[in-house]
Amino acid sequence: MDTDIIVLAAGKGTRMYSSLPKVLHPLAGRPLLSHVLDTAASFSPRSLRVVVGYGAEQVRGALTDFAQDLLWLEQREQLGTGHAVLQGAADLPDNGATLILYGDVPLISADTLRSLLEVMTTASVAVLTQHVDEPYGLGRIIRDGDGNVTGIVEEKDATEAQRRIREINTGIICAQNRNLLDWLGRLDNDNAQGEYYLTDIIGMAARDGEVIETGTVQDPLEAQGINNRLQLAAIERSLQRRQAEALALGGVTVLDPARLDIRGHVECGRDVTLDVNIIIEGTVHIGDRCEIGPNVVLKNCRIGEGCVVLANSHVEGADMESDISVGPFARIRPGTELKKGSKIGNFVETKKSIIGAGSKVNHLSYIGDTEMGRDVNVGAGTITCNYDGANKHRTTVGNGVFIGSNTAIVAPVTLHDGVTIAAGSTITADVPQDQLGVARGRQRNIDGWKRPTGK
Ligand code: UD1
Ligand code: CA
Repeated sequence: MDTDIIVLAAGKGTRMYSSLPKVLHPLAGRPLLSHVLDTAASFSPRSLRVVVGYGAEQVRGALTDFAQDLLWLEQREQLGTGHAVLQGAADLPDNGATLILYGDVPLISADTLRSLLEVMTTASVAVLTQHVDEPYGLGRIIRDGDGNVTGIVEEKDATEAQRRIREINTGIICAQNRNLLDWLGRLDNDNAQGEYYLTDIIGMAARDGEVIETGTVQDPLEAQGINNRLQLAAIERSLQRRQAEALALGGVTVLDPARLDIRGHVECGRDVTLDVNIIIEGTVHIGDRCEIGPNVVLKNCRIGEGCVVLANSHVEGADMESDISVGPFARIRPGTELKKGSKIGNFVETKKSIIGAGSKVNHLSYIGDTEMGRDVNVGAGTITCNYDGANKHRTTVGNGVFIGSNTAIVAPVTLHDGVTIAAGSTITADVPQDQLGVARGRQRNIDGWKRPTGK
């Protein structure tokens, strides 16, 4: 059966108190809306429609990179969910079925939706319902004595008796297109809120004698909508917890599943240990036997086998081979390539640089725009002066170079293989192979020197 999907995302999200449209608030590092759209796209629907209103341009702009074609439809005034779906149903073919989802209900699972779509082989409309302890504010599912659904009543329109019903409408509904188009055309706003209620189509279906099915969510988190930032924080914690548990069950030592945040995707090899307060962003690969210390941020990087990232390090856009140690307090910036067995120590920053196999930059250094060979030793306080205020210049360091502490290397410059640089040098010219480069004032000792005294 052909399936179309309409995602409602027109609301402002008043209770977010934000200038960002609600559906763009991030959950696990990406917009709420993109979670729903990914799930929707997994069905390869005939059309994937998004109804936007508040901040329409901003919402569209945030999803320009979305992998599947999106059909954007505008609802200029928020006149109710039925009105929103009517906008979304523009030029909808009258065969097939349409699934209605919400930009602010991010964790609905493909499995749940699949089971709802399955009943559409016989049903005209199917509603995803849930039994809750606190139904306040939600639409109630009305059933007759035989348990058949006869309608949905909104909180504000419900009688006392109806308000006691605990079976609620999650909002997720699937309907045959030919019925949906008919029902939408018959909606009115004659109710307590003066809105066009999508939910009224259920009563119409019952009166038309059409088959109405219900599906249920197994996991309450799936149907959880987000109306304020507290709910957003709660759903973020639940999602993070789940991701951490999945990693742990998959063989990663997660020292505290409550203190790991994955805002993207991580792949871990065997016997990886993740200490507390690690944040993972973008796509991160961590190889076998790696140990990631506490308070570490890893963003879009690949870490090979047997590496250690010590506490409070920030690693972004880096490619690390194997058996490398980074940190504590290191900042590895984009374009860094660390070769096998290299070591980056505390308070070291690297950017767009290759650090060769076995080379060590142990303390307090900045290495930028540099290509460094193997077995180099960089002393504390070494700085590559790569920027002249207008252009970036490159530094080349050969194999086996030894750079004394507190050296400034003014690029462009090349230190050939086997070079030694005396501590405290400011290197402005190339140093030929195996030579010593010294570039500092010569020491004088003054005999008989008297310290100034007061008065
Ligand atoms: C709706 C349902 C209710 C259900 C509840 C679940 C209706 C009439 N009621 O109520 O039965 O229990 O969801 O959360 O459908 N939206 C638009 N345009 C509009 C109105 C809404 O895009 O004109 C979007 C909102 O941005 C939101 C979603 O639709 O994402 C739901 O709208 P909302 O006003 O929150 O509906 P509820 O009153 O909560
Ligand atoms: Ca709502």
